[in-house]
Amino acid sequence: MSDTETKAPALEAKLIPIYIMGKRYDVPESLTIMKAMEYAGYQYIRGAGCRGGICGACATVYRKPGDYHIRVGLACQTVVEPEMYLTQIPFYPANRAVFNWDDLKGQVEEVHAAYPELFRCLACNACTKVCPMDIEVMDYISAIKQGDLDRAAELSFDCIQCGLCATRCMAEMAQYHIAQMVRRIRGRFLAPPSEHADKQVEAIKSGFYSDKLDELKALGTLDPFKQDQVTPEIEKLKKLYNEREMEPHTSDEKWVPQSDYALLK
Ligand code: FES
Repeated sequence: MSDTETKAPALEAKLIPIYIMGKRYDVPESLTIMKAMEYAGYQYIRGAGCRGGICGACATVYRKPGDYHIRVGLACQTVVEPEMYLTQIPFYPANRAVFNWDDLKGQVEEVHAAYPELFRCLACNACTKVCPMDIEVMDYISAIKQGDLDRAAELSFDCIQCGLCATRCMAEMAQYHIAQMVRRIRGRFLAPPSEHADKQVEAIKSGFYSDKLDELKALGTLDPFKQDQVTPEIEKLKKLYNEREMEPHTSDEKWVPQSDYALLK
């Protein structure tokens, strides 16, 4: 049998044309926009973080052929389509109110004063339709207008701050910044005190984790662009990660880790 006969046939990805900032590239059809851009030779310096749809850093604008819509999405989650025209918006220039936290009292009027554009909402719901996290954006804006900060904080809890809602808002408000202020107000003034969080803060301040963190930092850092790094330090890092104490699938709500600060005191 010849060499060529023994080898498995190479899997060939189908290439499709896409346009990145006006220039055509042929890329494998199964890639996300982020991977397709990297395949085409672009390097993400900004506009990428988690690569898993959580950090909100990779907002993208695109248009498809024969469709007048300007579409938006997360580059790390949206798969390329033939003839797609796209560009990245690593930062959206939205208004963010400036205020002194120490002057706040946790009242809804303070949110209204910081973001009076709230009341320009036309209830078009375009913000909700564009949200990659399926958040009811218009509903939380409505809750803030009505003074229900608890509901607004709950509804916006999954926000990843990508800013896509603001790109669509006819009232030109930055819903995600408004919701962030509301969640912070709720955390500070309205939510019941969290005993467990207080203990964790105490543990951090006391230096309880310092030795462990120093040990981890001494092992160096992983290069995200090198998939096959094998060094004794990396192996130790992986081992520590894989053997970390985890909550069992069958635990009840009273479960606490053996390494819990409160248990060791
Ligand atoms: S890189 Fe974090 S959401 Fe896309």
